[in-house]
Amino acid sequence: MSKIVLISSIAIITILALILLIFALNWYLNKNVSYTNNLSDKKILIAYYSYSNHTEEIANMINQYLNCDIVEIKSEEYENKNIIELNKLVNQQIKNETLPKINKIDISNYDLIFVGSPVWKDDVALPVKSFLINNDFNGKIIIPFYTFGGFVDKLRLDNQIKEYSHNDSVLPSFLTVYFKFAFIEYRLTKWLNGINL
Ligand SMILES: Cc1cc2nc3c(=O)[nH]c(=O)nc-3n(C[C@H](O)[C@H](O)[C@H](O)COP(=O)(O)O)c2cc1C
Repeated sequence: MSKIVLISSIAIITILALILLIFALNWYLNKNVSYTNNLSDKKILIAYYSYSNHTEEIANMINQYLNCDIVEIKSEEYENKNIIELNKLVNQQIKNETLPKINKIDISNYDLIFVGSPVWKDDVALPVKSFLINNDFNGKIIIPFYTFGGFVDKLRLDNQIKEYSHNDSVLPSFLTVYFKFAFIEYRLTKWLNGINL
């Protein structure tokens, strides 16, 4: 066997072993983590926007533990648009500093509001920005969660949430790429357990 074949074989076996290890660790950690926090004395709402359902999946995972009210932020302007049309419209709206119209959501009855957003152009998605700007968050605690597909500055996103909602009571957020082996269940549960009001 030539040296090149030997080195390539070792490299392939190492990569496969690493993938298997990540797969096993992901399965083990996700299976063995449990929700231990108790937020049942709070009136909680989960409000999220999701174009391709990643953020919706996370919202539903949170709700499995909290069993609270959940509402989707919707914007007709983006419905039935493919990703290229959506991207074009979002670029236009950012350039013109316009925001999409969204459904009416009454947040007055809640103390704690989980706000879920995909990352769009290094910012929260525009319908979420509309939701934050158009509601009165005075006296409420916001807990953000985001899904993304590239590189993101989480602190910057949290600061944007504070700015748009005119509310500094924003707790540390959960950020994840929507990828099967991203230890999502494990990291999400740890984050929920760490919420200290
Ligand atoms: C218009 C648009 C802009 C996006 N901009 C970013 C970005 O700046 N950074 C990033 O990491 N991902 C970006 N993404 C990827 C989304 O954040 C990612 O796919 C997310 O999980 C989608 O969530 P959803 O399925 O709930 O809509 C963008 C996606 C779209 C449609």
